[in-house]
Amino acid sequence: MIQVYDTAQELYNAAAWLWIRAALEQGGLVGVATGTTTTPIHETVARLHAVAPFDTRSIAICAVDDYVGIERGHIASCSERVRHQLVAPLGLAEKQALLPDRFNGEDAPRQYEEAIAGRGGVRMQMLGLGEDGHIGFNYPGTPIGEKAHLIRLPQSTKDTLHRLYAFPMDKMPTFGLTLGIRNILMSHSIVVAVSGAKKAVIVREAILGPVCERVPASALQLHRNVAWLLDKESASLL
Ligand code: F6R
Repeated sequence: MIQVYDTAQELYNAAAWLWIRAALEQGGLVGVATGTTTTPIHETVARLHAVAPFDTRSIAICAVDDYVGIERGHIASCSERVRHQLVAPLGLAEKQALLPDRFNGEDAPRQYEEAIAGRGGVRMQMLGLGEDGHIGFNYPGTPIGEKAHLIRLPQSTKDTLHRLYAFPMDKMPTFGLTLGIRNILMSHSIVVAVSGAKKAVIVREAILGPVCERVPASALQLHRNVAWLLDKESASLL
């Protein structure tokens, strides 16, 4: 399904309602991603909860990726941002959020993946989209069959961390942990939220181009239950 909204805020509202609906269903986890697109979605979820509180006791979430080795509590960490944006405002208990920074060492991806499977898998995975087509930390060239793994972070990601969080270059994490494309495709449903003209080309390639490793998000064409939520700018080349 492709849904195009007049404004980015309309897209965030629609994504927030989808998020809440998925979160209130029983069984499995709601997978979240961090970034400039999902942040206002999470803020909208939190605002809706503040205005009209819904029962959060059965909600369980996990995150698609995180940097490895950022000190616990630093807001640049994806796990920490999820705590800040969702866990705290929704009043979730620690055990309701399965987050990658609880897992350490080379075996962390396998442990994280097993923990997710142990909680019934991912019911709905919400994703943002990188300008190069990445989803989670699955950058161009990632094999479609790849499971959770550690990746060496590209310079572009380090630059973003530096820009957004003034993260010192000499303390920059080298690796990230991400669920793989294979894990993402195992989610029961997937919602991809994209806004802005800068992403129009990659949205077109991901949705209409061939499925290929050069555009990791193109693998989403292999899933039967994907909702693309776009604003007019990001959808302008479809
Ligand atoms: C981060 C993540 C990334 C982002 C992507 C888009 O947890 O999974 O794949 O979703 O980089 O980020 P924004 O929305 O900032 O353009």
